[in-house]
Amino acid sequence: MTEISKGLAGVVVDTTAISKVDPASNSLLYRGYPVQELADACSFEEVAYLIWHGELPSAEQLEAFESVERAHRELDPVVRRVVDELPETAHPMDVLRTAASVVGAREAGLAPLTGHETADEDLDLQKAVRLWAQIPAILAYDQRRRRGLDVVPPREDLGFSANLLHMTFGDVPELVVVNALDVSMILYAEHSFNASTFAARVITSTLSDLHSAVVGAIGALKGPLHGGANEAVMHMFEEIGTAEATRAWLERALADKRKIMGFGHRVYKNGDSRVPTMRAALDSLVEHYERPDLLALYDELEAAMAEAKGIKPNLDYPSGPAYHLMGFDTAAFTPLFVASRVVGWTAHVREQLAANSLIRPLSEYTGPALRHVVDRAG
Ligand code: COA
Repeated sequence: MTEISKGLAGVVVDTTAISKVDPASNSLLYRGYPVQELADACSFEEVAYLIWHGELPSAEQLEAFESVERAHRELDPVVRRVVDELPETAHPMDVLRTAASVVGAREAGLAPLTGHETADEDLDLQKAVRLWAQIPAILAYDQRRRRGLDVVPPREDLGFSANLLHMTFGDVPELVVVNALDVSMILYAEHSFNASTFAARVITSTLSDLHSAVVGAIGALKGPLHGGANEAVMHMFEEIGTAEATRAWLERALADKRKIMGFGHRVYKNGDSRVPTMRAALDSLVEHYERPDLLALYDELEAAMAEAKGIKPNLDYPSGPAYHLMGFDTAAFTPLFVASRVVGWTAHVREQLAANSLIRPLSEYTGPALRHVVDRAG
């Protein structure tokens, strides 16, 4: 029997110049820069530019880049109408997936159609920036409509994260909150061949279009083994309730063979390099919102998991409670991940396209041996 790597674990399928995940040194580099340094020194917009272009921007390049992003923040009325048609019971990831698809169909309508809109590297960068600029408007509007509130227009004088908060909550919170969201956006932006990025590359490899790749990636990200974990962490915190109840809860959960959300990672087996930076951002929010009880539960579960299983948290563990403190609906946490990861996905779309080969693996057949319809019994 052929040797099979279930889940493609350990299989190197292609090269990438976008990011490097080094489990041995617990490090993550975007275009060579350690992500912790980027989170300390740069805005999300600078990091997005770096991921797409390969270099950090000069002051002039950043200004031009920001002005394009700021010019495309207004919620497209057609997208708004489609969102309005969706039931409020629809998960925000389903709303965002649908809205991203509408944005794509609208973009295609802007250029003469050939019948098959295929990918084009330069056009794709423009489409990627426009889609990235639209996502905060979509997720902000979706949360507001669920709360019975009307759309808030974007503010051109604000950075990406401050504007996202403004469009969601109707005001700009204090700097500590804006900075924590910006740090999470930087940390979530790119992570090599994770499941959703690989899904985007598979779709691109057929020479399908950028929006189809992003829509597929959103679907892949939604699952709780991937991006859906940040939402699942918060549900788990609510189920546990208090720090005091944590150990008994964990014992039961592990006895029931449950996966503990926000722990473990396919690549990092000794801790996720992004966690300390996001944990520091969470600390600042806990202090700001005066919620030491949340941190007590967080620390207790982390310690109990280390003792019971020796498994460490991943980025979704601190980012879930951080988004909760900021005031986002729990179901909107994974859409926030999309607002950031769309940068990485679309950089991979362009990289795949620049040296494309159709992704089409093989499988080992385990079904019935050859048989014939005429030989059927009865
Ligand atoms: N809770 C409990 N046990 C876990 C665990 C978790 N979160 N993560 C891994 N394990 C255990 C597995 O049960 C398995 O134990 P076993 O060998 O006794 O069967 C062992 O650790 C190896 O796990 P495995 O599922 O093979 O690792 P993987 O590389 O396939 O999976 C994840 C990685 C991320 C899918 C997995 O850790 C997980 O489901 N985590 C929770 C969801 C999550 O936080 N996802 C976000 C990832 S960024």
